[in-house]
Amino acid sequence: MAKKRNIIVGQSGGPTAVINSSLAGVYKNAIERGFDKVYGMLHGIQGLLDEQYIDLSTQIHSELDIELLKRTPSAFLGSCRYKLPEIHEDKAIYEKIFEILNKLDIYAFIYIGGNDSMDTIKKLSDYAILTGQTQKFLGVPKTIDNDLALTDHTPGFGSAAKYIGASTKEVIRDALGLTYKKNMITIMEIMGRNAGWLTGATALAKSEDCDGPDLIYLPEVPFDVEKFLAKVKDLLNKKASIVIAVSEGIKLADGRYVCELGSVGDYVDAFGHKQLQGTATYLANFLAAECGCKTRAVELSTLQRSASHMASRVDIDEAFMVGGAAVKAADEGDTGKMVVIDRVSDDPYMAATGIYDVHRIANEEKLVPREWMNKDATNVTKDFVDYIKPLIQGDYQPIMVNGMPRHLVLNMKKGRKK
Ligand code: F6P
Repeated sequence: MAKKRNIIVGQSGGPTAVINSSLAGVYKNAIERGFDKVYGMLHGIQGLLDEQYIDLSTQIHSELDIELLKRTPSAFLGSCRYKLPEIHEDKAIYEKIFEILNKLDIYAFIYIGGNDSMDTIKKLSDYAILTGQTQKFLGVPKTIDNDLALTDHTPGFGSAAKYIGASTKEVIRDALGLTYKKNMITIMEIMGRNAGWLTGATALAKSEDCDGPDLIYLPEVPFDVEKFLAKVKDLLNKKASIVIAVSEGIKLADGRYVCELGSVGDYVDAFGHKQLQGTATYLANFLAAECGCKTRAVELSTLQRSASHMASRVDIDEAFMVGGAAVKAADEGDTGKMVVIDRVSDDPYMAATGIYDVHRIANEEKLVPREWMNKDATNVTKDFVDYIKPLIQGDYQPIMVNGMPRHLVLNMKKGRKK
């Protein structure tokens, strides 16, 4: 009997509004290419180590399910932040993973994730080559942070940027309505750890009907508290309502995160990342004391990565496309690679998939170039905004039931292994 050709797919790292569109792309393409089964790891490689996986055909039954999956935020299969040890440090863990893959007749292992997750693809593909195993290992890019190397942008970024731009506009409007004969400062805190792509996306709010944020602080440039205060005081003399966008990851010149000046927990994930939150609250309290006016902190937090109700059509379609492209690449014999998005043209916007060696991508961070910020690094340039604009275009109507968006959720009673 011919050996089965199965695929296993997992999701890892921080979720996005379109991460499941990539999962849908993997599933649909795998079925169309005649793969026998598509398994889903529950909570990524960490769950797989506990033999937690499902047969996706028990969850996806129709084209409507595919459409729902494309519109469902967060990781359908569950995510993880799990760092595999170096191969020489713990061979047993690799032996266990490959035992499971061989038991399931896995032809290709596909991982949807960011730079930390690509470390998993790198290590597993290295191990396969070192030990003569035949499985293919492919990465599918995903992160709202847009910090992956070699790809023009990452799926998830466009939708988060669209939500952030729109929310910034709404926050600015709200604040303007409140500032009759008195000052108010609103600080918005945006995700993105070390990369300011998302914080810069607040500049999308600037349009015919909105001035956009007054100041934008990205994490790429050290944050100077004194200069910041002077800027704010100067602005307060000129206008009643000031809206400032800050990255969750802005740091002082000595390397301390601004949020660490306030009260943050000690939580650190498997990749050594501190949990960043509280930057806006700290700065709002600081400015209230220094400037003596009303201040407000708005932390967009997980809303910015789960707002599938206003995801960008370009983003959903590209997320689907890269999922399918990873299956195609595996089918054609590629391994140890990640699919990328190449921008073919700006006007009209066109993109195509490419593929790169994952060793050039894993653990790397693509930051906002200094020339895309203004002189004193308190705003972004037109080039920055022009780069993002095509990525936020169009929308997918949510499938509404009783006035609320319907999602596809994992049915644990069906098809769970172990
Ligand atoms: O990696 C994506 C991201 O959303 C970052 O922007 C953010 O710093 C981080 O995840 C938060 O991760 P978690 O939800 O695990 O705290």
